Amino acid sequence: MKFTTILATALAAVPLPGTMAHPKMQEKIEELSARAYNYDDFDSNQILGDLRYLNWWQLSRSGSDIKRILQGTGNPQNRDKYWGVPRLQSSWCKRDTCCVWKYIADDLEVLFRGDSGRCSKWARFAIRMGFHDAATWTLANENAGGGADGSIILGGELTRRENGGIAAMGTKYQEIYQKYHDTYGFTDITYADLIQMGANVATVVCPLGPRVRSWVGRKDSSTPSPSGLLPSAFSDADTLIQLFMAKTIGPDGLIALLGAHTTSQQNFVNASRAGDPQDSTPGVWDVLYYQQTLGKAATPERVFMFPSDINLSKHPRTSPAFQAFAAPGGQGLWNDDYAREYIRLSLLGVNNINKLTECTKVLPQPVSNWDEPEAGKMNKWLDSDDYSQKSKDVSWDVETGSYISVPENKIPGYTNTRPRRQRNKWGGFSW
Ligand code: HEM
Repeated sequence: MKFTTILATALAAVPLPGTMAHPKMQEKIEELSARAYNYDDFDSNQILGDLRYLNWWQLSRSGSDIKRILQGTGNPQNRDKYWGVPRLQSSWCKRDTCCVWKYIADDLEVLFRGDSGRCSKWARFAIRMGFHDAATWTLANENAGGGADGSIILGGELTRRENGGIAAMGTKYQEIYQKYHDTYGFTDITYADLIQMGANVATVVCPLGPRVRSWVGRKDSSTPSPSGLLPSAFSDADTLIQLFMAKTIGPDGLIALLGAHTTSQQNFVNASRAGDPQDSTPGVWDVLYYQQTLGKAATPERVFMFPSDINLSKHPRTSPAFQAFAAPGGQGLWNDDYAREYIRLSLLGVNNINKLTECTKVLPQPVSNWDEPEAGKMNKWLDSDDYSQKSKDVSWDVETGSYISVPENKIPGYTNTRPRRQRNKWGGFSW
């Protein structure tokens, strides 16, 4: 994100100079202005992989587009359509790199889009898996391997504790690989691409999600990535900021990516609250996650926030991005920033970027409007602290993106088994 945007958002939240009452406010503005000259500390703009060693005149179309995006200028989203898709088993399809990816994206879309229109747990597994395959990499130790190389499946990393919950998505990808690579003979398909393309299909299927530009041509590796490079939900903000900086992702980029938790329903951070969402619109790519984590929007009982997310929302280096995405107009800003940072993430450890082929045109078109189709049922479930079978049935329907099968009058309400949160003046709560 351009620092000037964050600055404008932060300044919009304070009174005009003439009406300012307190010298502390002036200090705050001066501090923010001083940081405007130092925005490199917040933005991610390092060049990656082989692009570091190539001059502009040596760059392919993909190379120059990606270089601009990494530097913060190119457009990270588009709505390109794929006209005249060849038949799968035709020679045309074999010659067009993107053709088979259109068929794969269509198969994944079915898995990711629930009947209700919300995106399913498979979509969220796919986004998380894209992150977990790519983020096992650091610039300082790039020769140690890791990055977006398919090793999460090929190197047996799915048995690692941090990948709990997403292993089932590995099985789905293996089925797709067998179908298109082994049976139909599209031998250029790699797991590295499948995982990153899958993440981008998933993101755009979630209502309001960005359409992230997508490239293929990554290489696979069956060497397990270095361990210990993925974040913990119990970390403090400084540790997380350093962890992401080591991957060339600045604090703004970290917060843009973290917003993926807007769709999420945790199962392992607190197993006794399995299925609880991280904002009150699971399966929807909206900015409510930022507003609720900041405590600035009404937050029902069932919303469960990760300690790490709360820590980041309060830290001076990451709170400005939280505020900017939560502010009016934040959705467009966030979608663009997420897309830019995800492109970066999906290219960590990739050293043939200049040879990649863009296949964004195979992605579904974005869903730009969202009205919750069963607000009554959803709100009753969200306002409850009940974990009986009926509540679990609702959680399950929400996880699969289905319509909620339990009638509204059968959904258990608040049972008083844990004390209600202390509301603050926004109807959220203070940390
Ligand atoms: C500070 C950084 C992060 C931490 C500590 C973190 C941690 C976690 C944890 C513990 C879960 C819940 C797993 C479970 O109990 O089922 C989760 C879910 C998820 N994370 Fe993150 N994460 C971080 C950043 C990211 C990023 C950068 C992305 C994507 C770009 C991402 C995407 C997701 C998604 C989509 C889910 C939902 C999975 C589901 O609903 O099953 N996370 N994350």
